[in-house]
Amino acid sequence: MLIHDTIASLRAARAKAGRVALVPTMGNLHEGHIALMTQARGHADQVIATIFVNRLQFRPGEDFEKYPRTFEADCQRMEAAGVEHVFAPLESEMYPQPQTYHVEPPPEQAGILDGEFRPGHFRGVATVVMKLFQIAQPDVALFGKKDYQQLMVIRNMVSDFNLPIEIIGGETVRASDGLALSSRNGYLTDAERAEAPALYREISGLAAAVLTGDRNFSRLEAMAMENLKLRGWFPDYVALRKKADLQSPSAQDSGLVVLAAARLGSTRLIDNLEI
Ligand code: PAJ
Repeated sequence: MLIHDTIASLRAARAKAGRVALVPTMGNLHEGHIALMTQARGHADQVIATIFVNRLQFRPGEDFEKYPRTFEADCQRMEAAGVEHVFAPLESEMYPQPQTYHVEPPPEQAGILDGEFRPGHFRGVATVVMKLFQIAQPDVALFGKKDYQQLMVIRNMVSDFNLPIEIIGGETVRASDGLALSSRNGYLTDAERAEAPALYREISGLAAAVLTGDRNFSRLEAMAMENLKLRGWFPDYVALRKKADLQSPSAQDSGLVVLAAARLGSTRLIDNLEI
């Protein structure tokens, strides 16, 4: 496994790599990230994984500074997963001067759900992913369904800009109690970690109600929010949406997904479930 910290070095390696699959991450890798890298191997001759904590997608007061950085352990896991190339640039390599051009996703996609509570977040994501695509020039790139709205934004960006990149969505990897794996789970206290699977239980319950024919979506959403509040959570949203565009469904629509974001103590968790 080769580790590249400059764009020039990664580009030189990419030129000789044949068909390339890209897995962008912010590091602090867990089984969810590794599953994407393992899946990536089946789609390409060589896998490039990237580790870069992207300041542009964090708002002031969010966890950019304290985001866990565990490069040595990450490299061991990537090596074991059979990754050929790691791109881990310093901020000065990705942003030698402040980024002046940005990819601005439309507000209908990026101003809703997480975008409503994290204004500018998806602009930061789309901008860095566009840069990573230009640098690595992958044939295929993999993103997790755990970040469902992010996956939609990237799919639509690729389509709108005619990028010759196939986007593959990976299933969410969970702990045995249902909690979706996330780097942010490490912020939870023991008591919060024991409570955290309630988020998945709540959206699972909502999905089950829809499957048994309950079509009163706004009541189901409100009930789930209320249940979380009663357990001490601070939910931002629990929302039933159409999978294709994350807009609100009408009662007869199928192809739905339930998405949720809620704070437990000082940690904000997100999760979703396709129905
Ligand atoms: P990060 O949170 O490190 O996630 C990297 C990739 O792993 C994303 O595609 C994410 O959806 C996926 N992932 C995270 N947890 C997962 C889980 N439990 N199961 C399956 N996949 C999971 O998402 C980002 O980084 C950044 O926004 C990035 C795309 C790298 C741009 O900076």
